[in-house]
Amino acid sequence: MPISSTRRIPDHTSTPAHIAIIMDGNGRWATQRLLPRTAGHARGVQAVRRAVEACGRKGVRFLTLFAFSSENWRRPQQEVSLLMRLFVQTLEKEVDKLVDQGVRLRVVGQLDAFEPRLQALIHAAEARTAHNSALTLTIAANYGGRWDILQAMHRMLAAHPEIAGQPDVIDEVRLDPYLSMAYAPEPDLFIRTGGEQRISNFLVWQLAYTELYFTDCFWPDFDARELDRAIAWYQGRERRFGRTSAQLNDQG
Ligand code: FPP
Repeated sequence: MPISSTRRIPDHTSTPAHIAIIMDGNGRWATQRLLPRTAGHARGVQAVRRAVEACGRKGVRFLTLFAFSSENWRRPQQEVSLLMRLFVQTLEKEVDKLVDQGVRLRVVGQLDAFEPRLQALIHAAEARTAHNSALTLTIAANYGGRWDILQAMHRMLAAHPEIAGQPDVIDEVRLDPYLSMAYAPEPDLFIRTGGEQRISNFLVWQLAYTELYFTDCFWPDFDARELDRAIAWYQGRERRFGRTSAQLNDQG
């Protein structure tokens, strides 16, 4: 079980073990080309494929992609429907490839809001790839960081009703196993494409000590070279986890 970065200084290597991405800019990519926004999402799927392959080659162990936030239901109905169709089509088409590449697929979020067919496809794809371990690809779908913290609290209290009356015993170690990504270390590197510089209710708990990288590149244009750039930037960061630079230098 990974330990929280605020409790212990995590092991970290020059290749980030866990990269989390907000794939932004699909709509603007399409609008610039006088195409409907939905064409940008379709091209975004190709960028997802490239990112999975590039992360696999580089030895990244966990890649987490924010595909649909709990706030994205506010988009026009036609765009939401297209995104749902894309998820279904992508799951139907890509799972064999994930199996070949040794990729384990996991999907986190409030999945019961999705139509039963999509839920069934998600569960089948997770089951089919469950034995893979080269790279764990997590898709956050109908996900919100605050929802995650609250659902973890609810599940923890349901499992241990006795602690409801003793709030002082609730700490990170108790809550961590109930977070939806308890199986992964916290992200080392967060990437947001599309030029905005915000977290947008993504992995609110888990990004506490993550290095945050923002690029103007629109998601459909994101490729292995852009990923290399982000990783090179990450490798130039000094990860102090609360310590001073002098302390890090003393450690050699
Ligand atoms: C943000 O761009 C992107 C999304 C809300 C959807 C992301 C979905 C994909 C990349 C395709 C499907 C993915 C999978 C995993 C099957 P935006 O629409 O907010 O762009 P904008 O800011 O330019 O309007």
